[in-house]
Amino acid sequence: MASSSTTSTAVSLLCSATSSSRFPFSTTLPAKSSSTLYFRANSLPATHAASSSSSGKDEILGRRGLVFTLTATLPLLLPFSESMEAFTAKAVEPDTSIYEVMKEEIRKVVSKGKAAGVLRFVFHDAGTFQLDDNSGGMNGSVIYELDRPENKGLKTPFKILEIAKTEVDAVQPVSWADMIAVAGAEAVSVCGGPTIPVALGRLDSKEPDPEGKLPEETLDAYGLKQSFRAKGLSTQELVALSGAHTLGNKGFGSPTVFDNSYFKVLLEESVSSGSMSSMTGLPSDRALPKDDECLRWIKKYADNENSFFEDFQNAYIKLVNSGARWKSL
Ligand code: HEM
Repeated sequence: MASSSTTSTAVSLLCSATSSSRFPFSTTLPAKSSSTLYFRANSLPATHAASSSSSGKDEILGRRGLVFTLTATLPLLLPFSESMEAFTAKAVEPDTSIYEVMKEEIRKVVSKGKAAGVLRFVFHDAGTFQLDDNSGGMNGSVIYELDRPENKGLKTPFKILEIAKTEVDAVQPVSWADMIAVAGAEAVSVCGGPTIPVALGRLDSKEPDPEGKLPEETLDAYGLKQSFRAKGLSTQELVALSGAHTLGNKGFGSPTVFDNSYFKVLLEESVSSGSMSSMTGLPSDRALPKDDECLRWIKKYADNENSFFEDFQNAYIKLVNSGARWKSL
């Protein structure tokens, strides 16, 4: 109790010390907020991370970061009675972070059965990114691309996320890019995968991305590596992200459980039995164990689920920041 009221006090005072009209939320800094802070500090490009914004949700998250940092030191600087008075006067609002609202509304529509489609939706928005001309990427443009052959089946995740987005927009408008990025992370989490904190503030594109930028499922390992490299993603990230195919009906364990069975099955079938059944996975999945570099990562993730979760989390964060243009940066 003592430590939580100290924390609240410090936060409240900081809110009043800054411009409370531009920062309307007092908060008791629940544990769930810390992930947002941690991620924001680590995920934005260095040039962006240092920038400050003038209004909106970026402001809120940015100030929270400041709040969090100063929480440990402020109580030492302020007489306790003074800080308690300020706390009772100011700490009236609940934590209304839009990130929490997004997660809540997404959870209402993304059941385990819908999770695979939602996670695939993320790749089909972000995966158009091309490093060389900085085109495509995580910009919400997939909503204009639903009739493309490679996006067959993605109208369902679009429709359910639209329901959630309408609810979130009523509280505070958010971009499709942010909505999709958070939804993919929730889809992973709903199925038992890692909790992936996602930064907010992406801007949406108003037009579709160039066509033909997603990797074909018929590519061999060399082609897949080239395709991912062109998006700024390494071979390790290719392998870790391909682990998303553990969800869905391609023969890698339970369709609704996010675990390392993708790698276990790839290893068992390709190494132990010498060849993979054409019933298991996509051609692009079966191509990976044939490449020595990919095989090393497959073995690592098959042996160690924590290591897969950690690398998937980092690669996902990179994926959903690919080509993103950020609000107020
Ligand atoms: C490595 C290159 C990749 C290729 C060639 C590829 C291609 C495909 C294809 C053809 C499907 C089957 C769609 C269907 O059922 O009709 C699929 C499913 C899926 N993909 Fe990928 N994908 C790739 C990477 C990724 C990545 C990076 C992610 C996410 C991080 C992802 C997430 C998914 C998910 C979750 C499904 C299952 C969807 C469902 O069952 O509804 N894929 N992928």
